[in-house]
Amino acid sequence: MGVEDSVRCPFIGKFRLTALKSEHEVEIDMAQAASSSRSGGSRRFVYVVASVAALGGLLFGYDTGVISGVLLFIGEDFQLTAFLEGFIVSSLLLGAMVGAGVCGALSDRLGRRTIILAAATIFAIGAVGAGLAPNVETLIFFRFFLGLGVGSASALGPSYISESAPTDVRGSLSSLFQLAITLGILVAYLVNAAFASAGNWRWPLALAFVPALVLLIGMYFLPETPRWLVSKDRDEEARRVLSRTRTEAEVERELQEIRRTQEEEEQAGYRELLALWVRPMLVVGIGLAVFQQFVGINTVIYYAPTIIKSTGLANVASVLATVGVGVVNVLMTIVAILLIDRVGRKPLLLVGLAGMTVSLVIIGAAFAFSGLSGIISWVTLAGLMLYIASFAVSFGPVLWVMLPEIFPLNARGTGTGVSALSNWGPISLLPKRSCHSLP
Ligand code: BGC
Repeated sequence: MGVEDSVRCPFIGKFRLTALKSEHEVEIDMAQAASSSRSGGSRRFVYVVASVAALGGLLFGYDTGVISGVLLFIGEDFQLTAFLEGFIVSSLLLGAMVGAGVCGALSDRLGRRTIILAAATIFAIGAVGAGLAPNVETLIFFRFFLGLGVGSASALGPSYISESAPTDVRGSLSSLFQLAITLGILVAYLVNAAFASAGNWRWPLALAFVPALVLLIGMYFLPETPRWLVSKDRDEEARRVLSRTRTEAEVERELQEIRRTQEEEEQAGYRELLALWVRPMLVVGIGLAVFQQFVGINTVIYYAPTIIKSTGLANVASVLATVGVGVVNVLMTIVAILLIDRVGRKPLLLVGLAGMTVSLVIIGAAFAFSGLSGIISWVTLAGLMLYIASFAVSFGPVLWVMLPEIFPLNARGTGTGVSALSNWGPISLLPKRSCHSLP
């Protein structure tokens, strides 16, 4: 019986147990967990691998978070119509959908590392291109281009980390991707604030070049994931990669496990994603991805300043509250990282969903009674913080941790890509309007 799966994600355990995990693998996972303390020193490299790959998440958060705060100033330079304003925002989301769909599948063929290197190059060129854009058409082009990077990072970053991580810390390490997203959003809030008084939009867009370059250089020195290498019959390379972070015995056990898993899985590409045995995984993947957006997180992330101001808070308090939203998002993601491998994915999701429901009732009630007294502003703000905290401890990290865990190795890129694509779809339905992030 799959101990790990039945504890961590019981509702997908059935698929994993029948399709992916044998008794033998579970024993290996447990042995690996037991011996993890022995190989503590080499674990450091695993953390380096995860942190570098997580930079893709930082760029994802930054590039999506930065735009609402600078639209106002772009409008002053380029005489934007409402349509063009919307298009500047949508172009990145459109690019992200294409990037996730195409690059996810490509990574099954070309490797996770190759595609992340390509995404980092796109991030770097896109940041400079958008920052220097001489007209609105060029800006839209480069925002679309950046979107390709954001989409592929969202499809590939979690898989790269998950496939490189030892089982017992896989959840925590994969959650680093979400932590990086939240840091990216927070940095975007702060950078926008720093450049707001000068009315400058070029620097906030161009500054993303710095983490992009670090990602590019870092990934250049990192190896391909052992699982992908085995899937391409490059076992010797996989052995070398594994031996950087595992003891000799662990390397052999893990290689056996990967090979065995692969033999049990059928080959699965785009067409096979609809095969009967893969379909339940696809439903779970797409379902999680779509509902992560349907809970409304990005209405808060993109329009926090507008919502906060509409509660009647003074300007300075609104500024602090907006940064507060970003900080709570980061802090509660750290709480999730500490808990996710201990309590499991499903309990976190349930607690978070309960918190989001309660907080939305509070916010709804507060708006219904607005105008009664100043205290309502603070009640709304408390509701908003509870909402962000609940999302950050649950749906935020759980989606990106679970996606690579759900799909079989041969269809992982394609599966996570299609799921990530369905995550970007609902965001593009959000209303687009400028909102000076820190009033
Ligand atoms: C979501 C983003 C969201 C962010 C907020 C991510 O997991 O995919 O759409 O903006 O969390 O922290």
